[in-house]
Amino acid sequence: MGSLSNKRVILGVTGGIAAYKSAELIRCLQGEGAEVRVVMTPAATEFITPLTLQALSGNPVNLELLDTAAEAAMGHIELARWADLILIAPASADFIARLCHGEGNDLLSTVCLASHSPIAIAPAMNKHMWENNATQNNLQQLRAQTVHIFGPATGYQACGDVGEGRMEDPTTLARMTGSLFEKGLLSGKKVVITAGPTREALDPVRYISNHSSGKMGYALAQAAMEAGATTILISGPVQIAPPERVKIIAVESAENMLSAALDELDGTDIFIAAAAVADYRPASVAEQKIKKNDDDMFIQLVKNPDIVATIAAHPKRPLTIGFAAETENLEHYAKQKLQNKKLDLVIANDVSDSTIGFNSDDNRVLLVESGGSKKLPIMNKNLLATRLIEHIASLSKTSQP
Ligand code: C5P
Repeated sequence: MGSLSNKRVILGVTGGIAAYKSAELIRCLQGEGAEVRVVMTPAATEFITPLTLQALSGNPVNLELLDTAAEAAMGHIELARWADLILIAPASADFIARLCHGEGNDLLSTVCLASHSPIAIAPAMNKHMWENNATQNNLQQLRAQTVHIFGPATGYQACGDVGEGRMEDPTTLARMTGSLFEKGLLSGKKVVITAGPTREALDPVRYISNHSSGKMGYALAQAAMEAGATTILISGPVQIAPPERVKIIAVESAENMLSAALDELDGTDIFIAAAAVADYRPASVAEQKIKKNDDDMFIQLVKNPDIVATIAAHPKRPLTIGFAAETENLEHYAKQKLQNKKLDLVIANDVSDSTIGFNSDDNRVLLVESGGSKKLPIMNKNLLATRLIEHIASLSKTSQP
């Protein structure tokens, strides 16, 4: 995982012998963390099969502009919107000319026209075609349109000539592509976040739960993803849409949540427990719906496992962060949680104030660490999540060996 963590790249492949290198280029881009979708021109399919590139990219290869089935699945406008970057490699002299003149006569040129994302090209052609005034004029115009031009390299060419015009090698191209993006604060890190309430079943139709909306945990997952982390969100049942590019693991009970967290522990750098886990669960779950026979009913409860404390005590312990929602003595209880659960940071908030906390869009928190406490002003949960991820990224840096 690296400079392209969470980035979506359209790899445009045009007709040239260097198209065989596109297969390896997909691997190199994925190695940097990118998700890759391939768009091929008809000429490209004469050099390498769509099947090869489909198998390597893990996504269907898009070929035709006027294909109803493909347009219904992911059309040219959706593809253009989807991409964070369009990389055309190899870019033939013909495609460079068409791109330069804003033509939209095939799928790839149309996607380029419809996209607001940066475009990079890796020219590949015979050295005389490269040196030709028409090609050089086109390239100059593309540079002026802020198209990035990667290469070409110099060396032996398939036609027997030696000179400028070889496509840059895939590793270099993936590195150059990564350099177009600012490296996120959590690039290359794996972050696991718990969020929402848990549901503790009483019988097949009833459960014990709480009012947690999941907003804070979801906002943290979005911010971690934007900071470049591979982000896993272990979520209890909530009514909000999952953030894009985040792996969601849907759970119900505290026990489900703990086993999901333990399953994900390998390679986790940061664990953030934002879930409102039920402290207790019914000692037994009735197989059938409980009938209302008596005037009183007694439910025996047993304690749930403490998920964040279990993770903090694990030999593969990541940087571990918990929340504390309190109605009084905020700092005092948060410090207790820091020590008792052996956490690196407690994010504490006062839930006695109904304008902030559980279900609201805003939150005001106190950051409690072994070195001291810091109050943050009241702010929207999304902005707060970004601030918290910045703080957590700096803690993660200083806690590294
Ligand atoms: O103990 P208390 O519920 O106040 O602690 C809150 C913190 O501990 C939160 O970060 C919450 O996600 C986490 N927690 C947990 N498992 C529990 C209870 C709380 O991970 N069973």
